Amino acid sequence: MIKVVFVCLGNICRSPTAEGVFRALVEEQGLGGRIAVDSAGTGAWHVGQAPDPRAQKAARRRGIDLSAIRARKATQGDFTTFDYVLAMDPDNLAALKKLCPPGEEHRLALLLDYAPGAGRRDVPDPYYIGGQGFEHVLDLVEKASRGLLAHIQKTHF
Ligand code: 4NP
Repeated sequence: MIKVVFVCLGNICRSPTAEGVFRALVEEQGLGGRIAVDSAGTGAWHVGQAPDPRAQKAARRRGIDLSAIRARKATQGDFTTFDYVLAMDPDNLAALKKLCPPGEEHRLALLLDYAPGAGRRDVPDPYYIGGQGFEHVLDLVEKASRGLLAHIQKTHF
């Protein structure tokens, strides 16, 4: 089993969106039994909460249901559980580097490393932007999900 966790700040907007989008892609490709998907936040403010209603609504319009996801905080243990620990932006990457046990850094990357054509490194935080911010997150995450799945298939299967 290849295990992937997406990490943002609150685990209520960007990373649950990535979890839902990537899981849908994995299942669509018949790989649900081979790739496990999760998400987490580097901050703890929203632990236990469902994704932001704006993120849920935007995802639902693209056929993706985020309602069962609950926010949790990223832990040091994530670096032994997950093969891929993917940060949504450089700030969260820096926070994860501090949490990462020595020798496990190879698991850590930016999600948008898998979407070189996107021309940026961060999935911008939509929390204070609203509306189009959530659509932009979905566009970036869809692109990177395809790149990530292609990478996993090439590398592991
Ligand atoms: P996320 O968005 O990191 O994409 O889940 C945010 C959610 C909440 C906060 C910041 C970003 N907050 O400051 O509460």
